[in-house]
Amino acid sequence: MEESSTIEQVYRGTFVHSTPQTPLLILEDALLGVNTHGTISQRQKNVVSTHCYTKLLCGVYLNSSLCGFLPCSEFFMPGMVDTHIHAPQYSYAGTALDLPLLQWLNKYTFPVEAHFADLKFAQQIYNQVVKRTLRNGTTTACYFATIHTDASLLLGQIANDLGQRALVGKVCMDRNDSAKTYKETSQESQEETLRFIKELLEKKYPRVSPVVTPRFALSCTEPLLGQLGAIAKNNNIHIQSHISETVDEVNVVKELFPDSKSYTDVYNKHNLLTDKTVMAHGCYLSDEELTLFRQTGASLAHCPNSNVSLCSGLLDVRNVLKHKVKIGLGTDVAGGYSASILDAARRALETSKVLTIQNPGYKTLTFEEVFRLATLGGSQALSLDKQTGNFEVGKDFDALRVNVAAPGGPIDLIKDEHPKVGIWTLIIKIVNSDDRNIVEVFVAGKKVVPFTEKTQE
Ligand code: GUN
Ligand code: FE
Repeated sequence: MEESSTIEQVYRGTFVHSTPQTPLLILEDALLGVNTHGTISQRQKNVVSTHCYTKLLCGVYLNSSLCGFLPCSEFFMPGMVDTHIHAPQYSYAGTALDLPLLQWLNKYTFPVEAHFADLKFAQQIYNQVVKRTLRNGTTTACYFATIHTDASLLLGQIANDLGQRALVGKVCMDRNDSAKTYKETSQESQEETLRFIKELLEKKYPRVSPVVTPRFALSCTEPLLGQLGAIAKNNNIHIQSHISETVDEVNVVKELFPDSKSYTDVYNKHNLLTDKTVMAHGCYLSDEELTLFRQTGASLAHCPNSNVSLCSGLLDVRNVLKHKVKIGLGTDVAGGYSASILDAARRALETSKVLTIQNPGYKTLTFEEVFRLATLGGSQALSLDKQTGNFEVGKDFDALRVNVAAPGGPIDLIKDEHPKVGIWTLIIKIVNSDDRNIVEVFVAGKKVVPFTEKTQE
């Protein structure tokens, strides 16, 4: 037990989280002690006696708003993890979803991303996207920025200043026939990636790290892929990209890389599949490719909103789990039109139900499993599960205080008659909720939502 003097905050209430063994655990009337570093240092469940309660709080500052029980409609859950989001694309989220991926990229995405050479514009949009995602309960985000190094550094700074845990990638693309102004030479891409990593690491932001980001196999030459694999290895940093999102894309990869056995093999050959790699989509991966993911420790970002919005495909999450491949949820803004992981959770359930409609024998994902994908699964996919993802002692307190009840509404009636069912019903309601149900957001013990006067602007 840690000395109570180092505990800065104690939170009391119902805590809901996942473990690798159990997708949903409910800790009723528990206490969580968070130390001055924002780390969970004590946890006590079923605090029945006031004596015990008082003892634990001896000499400890109790957050006054949380004194005593939370209302029965409130609980704490881990902060959510967005394993794949394009920060610049927030500028047109919710529009331009009328084309399939490759045309969509050429017509809308690349011209928009080219605007991020303008740092003022970048500042405005990046402020908006970090605030929006924090407000939506995303305590950790894995961002694609654009090819522009300085704007990508700015995204890192904004995430740090607003208190979000983030992985930030300067996008690499030395092959783009459709946009003469939106591509780099291989040398520029390599040199600017090195500069990006160096300058971001020099800032020593505690919770913002660089991630090597080849956009996808179609936009990178083999030499560049090889250089990026080497850079990630030499610096021991994360890697992110896209894989097997659409049938057309998979076919072009076959043409461009005739010597590779599969799309996964293209990345693996260039040392881009490691236990710090997260690949978005993966709708068309074969069992053999999933096995390679498992062997290398690489993970998948499931982006169900985008997969359906761009008519890309339906990821069979059950099969990914069967192969023991790490997997979390991604919004994939702006292929996905919503910047909310609660939306991604709904869409993940929906995609799974569509697979069940197509094949009644298919085992639909449960609410509990999707809850885990949104929290612990995302942390595992980003190899951040030693720091975050649930309420284990020793992890950072990345948390949401949630209120799901309509006061006096039918939920209370259910709870009165069936106390256990009631709590479960309340928790399940989170998947149908939105940011209005998220009362407070904490990252490493620090309250980041509601915004303060300083972060409000
Ligand atoms: N593949 C390559 N780039 C992108 C992108 O920006 N969005 C999506 N959804 N897929 C991609
Ligand atoms: Fe994407």
